[in-house]
Amino acid sequence: MDSRQQAYLQAMGIDIWVQRDADIQVNAIPLVTAANPQADPVPSINPSSSDDLSQLDWSALQARVSACTLCELHQGRTQTVFGVGNPRAELLIIGEAPGAEEDRQGEPFVGRAGQLLNAMLKAIRLQRQEVYIANILKCRPPNNRDPKPEEAALCSQYLVRQIELIQPKLILALGRIAAQRLLQTDMNLGKMRGQLHRYTLTDTPLIVTYHPADLLRTPSDKRKAWQDLIFAQRILGDPAKAV
Ligand code: URA
Repeated sequence: MDSRQQAYLQAMGIDIWVQRDADIQVNAIPLVTAANPQADPVPSINPSSSDDLSQLDWSALQARVSACTLCELHQGRTQTVFGVGNPRAELLIIGEAPGAEEDRQGEPFVGRAGQLLNAMLKAIRLQRQEVYIANILKCRPPNNRDPKPEEAALCSQYLVRQIELIQPKLILALGRIAAQRLLQTDMNLGKMRGQLHRYTLTDTPLIVTYHPADLLRTPSDKRKAWQDLIFAQRILGDPAKAV
């Protein structure tokens, strides 16, 4: 742990003594490949049975998303929020949906939660532009309500194509809603954390952590988020552990 990393941890609000504790605990986290759990609790769309996006390259996909009117959310948006970062990133971070500021700027995680996400990334020596950041939904739900299952189902075909094109080594799901959607489960966040899952549609390793907005509300969970980041770093550093 160098001094730069310690400074980022402090910026995240994590006391320095926590990381030693976290290092020990993280090494004790079993690398479990979770079987895809229970039956799908929400409707899902088989991407191949709807519009076929499998031939679209990155820019054609972006254009398709910008013009999307598949669900009612297109009526209230300023613009779609496709994602940001390196389209060849090893780490793909997936949040829930754009908020007001993201809708205005057309970029995910630009508000306070985004600032905390940037600090979290720096703590594992990653810059925002090195990873790719996207959401389950490309359009802002009104009053920041949770995504409806049918909205997530319709929008997921775009995310699937993004994952196919990026081919990340690891997906980091932020928060219960993104994680439940990606893993097609109704498990709670506590059960999903600390395990190596797979996003089955693209067979991509996936882990789960807190949503930065939840960490802003409950800073005491930052210690556990730090454990999750070390877990991510460990998998990225040694992808064989993700098999
Ligand atoms: N929360 C999210 O889940 N995504 C964003 O882009 C911003 C806030």
